[in-house]
Amino acid sequence: MKDPSRIYRWLLLVASVVTIVYLVGAAVRENYLAQWRTVQHEYRNILREKATDDRGRELLAKFRVEMKQTTIPALGTVDRCVTCHNGIDDPRMTDMPQPHRTHPGHILDKHPVDRFGCTVCHHGQGAAMSFNEAKAEDVFWDYPLLPPELTESTCVTCHDAERLPPDQIPLLTVGMRLYREKSCGSCHKLGGRGGSLGPALDNEGAKTKHQLIMTNLKPPHTTWSWQNAHFRDPGGVVPDSLMRNPTVTRQEALALTAYMLSQWKRDVPESYLAPDKIEQKYRALHPAPLAGEEVYRGYCTACHGNGTYTRWDKKFNRFIPAIRGVSLISTATREYLRANIEQGRPGTQMPAWGSHAGGLLPEEITGVVEYLRSGAPAVPAMTALTLHGDDSNGLSLFLKNCAGCHGMNGRGGMAPEIGNPVFQQAATDEFIIRTIRNGRIGTAMPAFQRNDAPAFSDQDIADVLAYLRTLGEPKAQKAMAQRVTSRTPPGGKP
Ligand code: HEC
Ligand code: HEC
Ligand code: HEC
Ligand code: HEC
Ligand code: HEC
Ligand code: HEC
Repeated sequence: MKDPSRIYRWLLLVASVVTIVYLVGAAVRENYLAQWRTVQHEYRNILREKATDDRGRELLAKFRVEMKQTTIPALGTVDRCVTCHNGIDDPRMTDMPQPHRTHPGHILDKHPVDRFGCTVCHHGQGAAMSFNEAKAEDVFWDYPLLPPELTESTCVTCHDAERLPPDQIPLLTVGMRLYREKSCGSCHKLGGRGGSLGPALDNEGAKTKHQLIMTNLKPPHTTWSWQNAHFRDPGGVVPDSLMRNPTVTRQEALALTAYMLSQWKRDVPESYLAPDKIEQKYRALHPAPLAGEEVYRGYCTACHGNGTYTRWDKKFNRFIPAIRGVSLISTATREYLRANIEQGRPGTQMPAWGSHAGGLLPEEITGVVEYLRSGAPAVPAMTALTLHGDDSNGLSLFLKNCAGCHGMNGRGGMAPEIGNPVFQQAATDEFIIRTIRNGRIGTAMPAFQRNDAPAFSDQDIADVLAYLRTLGEPKAQKAMAQRVTSRTPPGGKP
């Protein structure tokens, strides 16, 4: 009869052998087959081939196969990259394949490895001992190794991009320019200045892939591929995005991506900041005002275009007024324009630009008002209108003639909000009367008293005005609306 415990003894033996083989295998793998060891053996052979002079023989004699690392407490980094990138500061290695090759450019002369390490510029997992883990794209690591061409986006940690030689930061240079040219500031704040439709971008580069919606993006799911795809087609990445497609080429999208990655308020000790960065921080506290035209280009054009025609905006589902159009600027006072710009139109896409909101300086708002008005024609005085308006008749006229565009109650339509509190406060009666009489040339706003075919009598206009004034919020405006009078004509002395 067989011993029934025999089978268990066999099983135990097999299990022990498997475990021992596995442990030995793991030890061999770690000690003899680890990627970094293979790399260093290769590198020693290269050193041997190149040991043709005293210096070369000395480097060969000193070389040990061992883990190498740079520990930099001030930056909180432990970088073992040089364990594989052995030839990084050896000028003889320019023709070698990676990872043995000399570092491109002369950047390590100014940023020596023992003081800066590698990850402060490249990101990636410094302590890793295999390239895949150093790259850290698929493991849980906030900032994986940047693609070489985007590595320049980290220079801004310690430098002012405006002061670095453009040939060292080719993408950032283009990205900064595009940000101004495409008027990204119309919807985004940077350094406290800009519109409010989109999120502030000051710390965009600090975002990790977990903070961006990746569902509509093809892998690899990195922050830079997200940015890149978003610039090519915002709505394709964020459904129903109100961001206008910036219409950029592939290379321009990459440049904007580098610029976005560079937006990162990263904390490094002052001793690591280059002098230009310290000056930049100081200048940011005392910004030099932009001229009116620069303000307009940087902060208004994404919505208002060149300002001379009304634009129908599909995404906003409304007309964006022609703020440099002849009819508006010949009618509007400086105060009217200033109030609208400073306070915006709450509840619409028109943001407030005063120092409390969009961060424009008072002299910049003055500048942009003058820019809007440049070329304003002189306006003939208006015949005074001294009729009493009847707001209930005004209401029925409004519903028939205006509400289709301006919305019931003067709000929620596709044309500007007449009930908007800022409009009600800023617009004089004369301004409104002129607008109804003459309409606005080059926009959808019709003239209701054209000489050849007046649709409205003076009484109709007085009635509509009386009704429009009931839309204003402060109750006092209601009382005012009963008396329709005309004040000093504009163009003369607004
Ligand atoms: C001061 C910033 C900085 C530091 C520090 C730095 N690098 Fe770089 N590195 C760059 C930039 C920028 C590039 C891309 C430059 C180019 O292509 O001309 C680059 C390119 C490279 C490349 C070549 C990539 C390719 O294939 O084009 C390698 C490899 C590399 N770095 C490794 C390292 C290692 C390893 C360290 C640490 C010893 C290091 N770097 C330190 C900024 C830095
Ligand atoms: C275990 C060895 C090893 C370590 C550790 C390592 N690398 Fe590398 N690295 C390589 C190899 C091998 C390549 C070439 C890979 C290839 O071409 O596919 C490479 C390529 C690169 C490149 C060029 C990448 C590209 O896409 O062209 C950069 C940049 C780089 N390494 C930076 C670093 C940095 C920074 C670290 C430290 C965080 C690091 N490496 C750590 C082995 C290593
Ligand atoms: C961690 C901070 C840090 C990062 C990141 C960094 N630098 Fe520097 N850089 C410095 C410091 C500090 C100096 C030394 C300034 C000095 O010598 O007065 C310097 C010097 C320089 C100089 C020489 C300036 C001069 O006047 O001699 C250049 C050029 C330069 N860096 C370019 C770059 C580029 C390009 C990048 C990105 C690839 C970069 N730096 C990334 C800190 C940094
Ligand atoms: C018409 C307004 C508008 C303009 C102009 C605009 N954006 Fe946006 N942007 C938005 C809105 C709204 C969002 C949020 C929805 C989204 O992510 O698409 C956004 C999102 C972004 C994001 C992602 C922010 C995040 O972390 O979620 C970035 C980056 C960005 N914009 C950069 C830019 C740049 C650079 C430009 C200029 C080329 C620009 N935007 C022009 C409205 C705008
Ligand atoms: C076909 C559409 C349409 C109709 C109908 C219309 N408007 Fe307008 N209205 C507009 C547009 C578009 C603007 C903005 C024009 C611009 O770009 O400056 C405007 C501007 C105005 C303004 C100036 C608002 C501002 O923010 O500056 C007033 C006041 C106004 N309309 C009153 C009326 C009244 C009253 C009626 C009816 C008697 C009327 N509108 C009928 C489209 C219309
Ligand atoms: C995000 C888009 C957007 C940006 C950026 C923007 N505007 Fe506007 N603006 C609008 C919209 C929409 C309206 C109409 C609001 C309404 O319907 O009541 C408007 C209205 C105005 C008006 C009132 C026009 C009138 O007919 O009475 C002025 C003045 C104005 N904007 C000036 C500016 C200036 C100056 C800037 C740049 C500093 C600017 N806007 C930036 C969207 C924008």
